[in-house]
Amino acid sequence: MSMIVIVGAQWGDEGKGKIVDWYAEKADVVARFSGGANAGHTSYVDGVKYVTHLLPSGLLRGKKCVLGAGMVIDPAQLLEEIADFAQKGLSASSLSPEQIMISSSAHIILPTHKELDAAYENARGEKALGTTKRGIGPAYADKALRRGLLAGMMLSPAEFADKVHSLVLDHNWELLSNYDAESLDPEKIAQDYEGYAKKLKPYIQDTSLYLHQCLKNSQTVLAEGAQGTLLDVDHGGYPFVTSSSTVAGAAATGLGVSPKFISKIIGVAKCFQTRVGEGPMPTEILGREDLVNHLRGKMDDPGAEYGSTTGRPRRVGWLDLPLLRYAARINGFDELVLTKLDILSGLEFVKLCLAYSNQARTAVFPEPIAGDIAILRNFYPEYEDVLGWSEHIGEVRDFKDLPICAQLYVRKIENIVKKPVSFVSVGTGREQVIVR
Ligand code: IMP
Repeated sequence: MSMIVIVGAQWGDEGKGKIVDWYAEKADVVARFSGGANAGHTSYVDGVKYVTHLLPSGLLRGKKCVLGAGMVIDPAQLLEEIADFAQKGLSASSLSPEQIMISSSAHIILPTHKELDAAYENARGEKALGTTKRGIGPAYADKALRRGLLAGMMLSPAEFADKVHSLVLDHNWELLSNYDAESLDPEKIAQDYEGYAKKLKPYIQDTSLYLHQCLKNSQTVLAEGAQGTLLDVDHGGYPFVTSSSTVAGAAATGLGVSPKFISKIIGVAKCFQTRVGEGPMPTEILGREDLVNHLRGKMDDPGAEYGSTTGRPRRVGWLDLPLLRYAARINGFDELVLTKLDILSGLEFVKLCLAYSNQARTAVFPEPIAGDIAILRNFYPEYEDVLGWSEHIGEVRDFKDLPICAQLYVRKIENIVKKPVSFVSVGTGREQVIVR
């Protein structure tokens, strides 16, 4: 009986999808515990491109998948993903309610949640957070306000439609009176959602009980995190965060299973740092377009640093070890996975941020101060230059075959974060991994 939790150690987009896909092979169930369609992951299987925003990545390994209670689900998006996978050749049985289970306690996103998300962002003007505008914040706000719509309500489609209608009216009132934004048609939305409810009804169940039974029967559950530690609503750089708990502890609450089942916590970090959206990023590379372009890649390259949900170019920086140490502490990582080591090939030097100094450059902080990550704006990264390597490493499968400088780079990270690096990804392909 074991639950393995995989979470992002940075600002999301660490390449968790590929790591989940790799671990999923040995798991029985893959379960997502937080977030919604703000997440995005692209996989290539036998040359076919699959984009998932809501479905757990394990589906492509033919595993049972759970969308947990901690999620906020856009039913139109979910049905679209299921239809897209069917059209690309996944069998009906692999997309059936026996394979995909939605927690009756997950919350449902309405089109008006998205309108509100956009209205709040517009109203913030220059102080916008850079949300994905997928309605995430407003849906979690409705959950906290105790007026949200539960997936379990879809089991009675007609009554659910009434509830949808009434919530859309509330949202419309707010859109019109506070934001001078356009209201949406409550009748049409209620009708659409009644249709979604009829289609999704068979997928809805008590997934907490299901997962409990799996774990009791010695099955392995892989808890798939979304976004990353620094976007956590409690422990990230508030307010530049998402609206859910993204850290390992949230796997238990977001899936409704006891934390006692967690047997391993894996943190995924990119070998450099990226961020999409606003907020402080101490190691951001500014004024070096050549370097930024090298690390970001070209828009059409697989794995290039453009948001898979919004297409926005990601901000790029050097690996920030104080933040990684912070993530290791908050989550309690047993091991670290490093992704995109291959992208660093061809750089003369690779900078590693070891600590921060303050404005007077006197004090050195080994770790940011929790709860006030905005203070990062006044921190100056103290770097060590690590010698780079020129070799292409995409074909390397054994750690000792990596260029010596690449090995040193990984070892330095291990020594400073004090966590073993168990796995290094050296390309977008499934097989491009070094297991240590
Ligand atoms: P929201 O989750 O759409 O409300 O966006 C809040 C912040 O989280 C914004 O800075 C987004 O860019 C960021 N964000 C949300 N989801 C992801 C993700 O999957 N990867 C990276 N950033 C994300």
